[in-house]
Amino acid sequence: MTSAFEAVRDRQSLSKVTDVAPSPGEVLTLVAAAGRVADHSSLRPWRLIELRGRDRERLGAAIAKAEGDKKPSTKPLRAPLLIAVVASYRKSKVARWEQEAVASGVAHMLSLLLDDAGWGVFWRTAGSATRSKPVAKLHGLDKNEELLGWLYVGGKPERSRPGRRKPVDASRFVSRLPGSEKPAPRVGAVIAGEADASSPSTDGSEKKSDRSKKSGTSKKSGTSKKHGGSKKSVKAKTHKKSTKAAERDDSAQ
Ligand SMILES: Cc1cc2nc3c(=O)[nH]c(=O)nc-3n(C[C@H](O)[C@H](O)[C@H](O)COP(=O)(O)O)c2cc1C
Repeated sequence: MTSAFEAVRDRQSLSKVTDVAPSPGEVLTLVAAAGRVADHSSLRPWRLIELRGRDRERLGAAIAKAEGDKKPSTKPLRAPLLIAVVASYRKSKVARWEQEAVASGVAHMLSLLLDDAGWGVFWRTAGSATRSKPVAKLHGLDKNEELLGWLYVGGKPERSRPGRRKPVDASRFVSRLPGSEKPAPRVGAVIAGEADASSPSTDGSEKKSDRSKKSGTSKKSGTSKKHGGSKKSVKAKTHKKSTKAAERDDSAQ
């Protein structure tokens, strides 16, 4: 069973996917979980739109219209299922940026859950066409709504080579307030992929993964990892602290 720690650490975006897609029911199961993100005043300021089959061609045409191209964009055909992520801003004392953070959180969470369920996922935008009129019209967006892009979803190819990922040197991103009495403890670089989720934490506190093992509360999603490709073949290896250590393969997206 994958712990949340492992699922997040080992996730990766897949730009090339096969023609199989999760069923509408499976998507709903995962969305019900993803929708549990932190949400100020529980506004649920988001919605998702599935694009399957010919709808992807309609999106290609809308993108072309926005870009002034004669030929429809073939980008949306890269996956059998596109999930449009919509920020639906509610009238509220909660600021717009807070609401966008919720919508974005849902998309990240859903992307993670799809990956963990064995699907290939890639969050894409379409440049300035993303928030163009033709594209908004196609999706039936209200004036209080904005697109955050699309999750491209499909099967994981049998032999998908794990792309190389830059390690995250956490110590570079965590600090204390300026003028704070003590500097942040620097116990060496903590890099995603190097930490051992099963080892005791450095401050002696119990880890969540340990707690869930004991209580048996950790559950698998209702979906199985059955879509080809080895499960979690990407294990970030030990890297040097240098940011040049490994270059992510971001090409041809
Ligand atoms: C809102 C958003 C939009 C993105 N749009 C694109 C895009 O249009 N093209 C692209 O190559 N990557 C895009 N990305 C980045 C990829 O989804 C992916 O995160 C990146 O290739 C790194 O791979 P990784 O997620 O496995 O680390 C976007 C990410 C986010 C969060």
